[in-house]
Amino acid sequence: MKSVTVPRINGQRLWADLMALGEIGFAEGRGVTRTALSDADLAGREWLVGKFREAGLDVRIDAACNVIGRLRSGQTGAGLVAVGSHLDTVPQGGRFDGMLGILAGLECVRTIREHGMELPRDLEVIDFTDEEAAHNAGTLGSRAMMGLLKDGELERSVKQGRPSFADDLRKAGKDPTRIGEACRDAKEFTCYLELHIEQGARLESQGIQIGAVTAIVGIYRYLVTVEGAPAHAGTTPMTLRNDALVKAAPLFTLLPEWVKARDPEMVGTIGYLELFPGVPNVVPGRCQFVVEVRSQRSTDMVHIRELLKAYAASREGWCVETILEKEWTPCAEPLIQAVVDAASKEGLSCIRMPSGAGHDAQSLAAAGVPTGMIFVPCRRGVSHSPGEWTEPERAADGCQVLLRTLLSLAGQQQGEVGRVPHSGA
Ligand code: GLV
Ligand code: MN
Ligand code: MN
Repeated sequence: MKSVTVPRINGQRLWADLMALGEIGFAEGRGVTRTALSDADLAGREWLVGKFREAGLDVRIDAACNVIGRLRSGQTGAGLVAVGSHLDTVPQGGRFDGMLGILAGLECVRTIREHGMELPRDLEVIDFTDEEAAHNAGTLGSRAMMGLLKDGELERSVKQGRPSFADDLRKAGKDPTRIGEACRDAKEFTCYLELHIEQGARLESQGIQIGAVTAIVGIYRYLVTVEGAPAHAGTTPMTLRNDALVKAAPLFTLLPEWVKARDPEMVGTIGYLELFPGVPNVVPGRCQFVVEVRSQRSTDMVHIRELLKAYAASREGWCVETILEKEWTPCAEPLIQAVVDAASKEGLSCIRMPSGAGHDAQSLAAAGVPTGMIFVPCRRGVSHSPGEWTEPERAADGCQVLLRTLLSLAGQQQGEVGRVPHSGA
């Protein structure tokens, strides 16, 4: 293909957007809380829609509440290039996880338009709904778009006493029974690219500017319920209690032992735990928690799942339900190489590396869309925390590599993304 001159993105404008969006849902000392479809998330989306329109994107919000901004090329029938990530955050999260990918996509659009560039295919910038599992499993919007939602996912979080995804879709003006309308054919997409902070410390500790992501970690997650009997905390003798927390407690230290014994690179976490009724003067009648394991090997995650199920089966009052089982998902080699080439042309150091965090990219890749991811360093690898941070220059580096990569891929013929792409200034 003919070579393209790649313009410079405006790093200051990108940073200003990151800081402005990061004010929505921000509280001093508690970071950003913009859980999916909460009032803060809805306010963030409204802000984003305004920015998309200002940049000349056609905006639509699909049946899963994904916000889709489209830059039209005037070419019909050519598959589109999509970039995206998520605006939603974990409770008390940071200003970069997810947001960087969307705002960098927006900045690429502005740069393309300001330089009068005509793309040979449409470009979409997508904010995927609920990447962060506010409704239990996460990547709901991207999986809805790729037809990967499982039965019961619209209702599942009710079990944890939270609004369901269906409730929150209704609150946002969508009819959950029509969520199937969000589903698109993977063939519509020539490729999908996502820029993200690394959320680990490898790039920073090695002084590397860009990570070309090779694959995304597998994640298995289970809801465990342990039943006891609620009783008065003052009048019920210790010998007569059926305390659900005490019954559950040995597993909290067993899980890390199982995981460490299986594979030093595997991780296992109990990050959610709730007691019912959850007050100091009642012996817990029920203890509910989520066991999550992540690995590059399904066999390792299956091993822990089977240990957990056997443990539960041998005890009274235990129940284990599957929330999700997402496999290790490789990125497409031509896209990995495109990122490596783009970083090299920008004079930035780059390594290939896997992702230990989950991403919407995983849903697109799992559905067969050629997918690539770009990582930039974040301070001390901290993420999912108010302390999450990256420097303006690092965000700009990632955005510049995103622009160069997407221009190189947008110039490919449909179906050609399977070959090594090449462009250059
Ligand atoms: C998403 O951030 C995840 O890795 O859980
Ligand atoms: Mn996250
Ligand atoms: Mn993320």
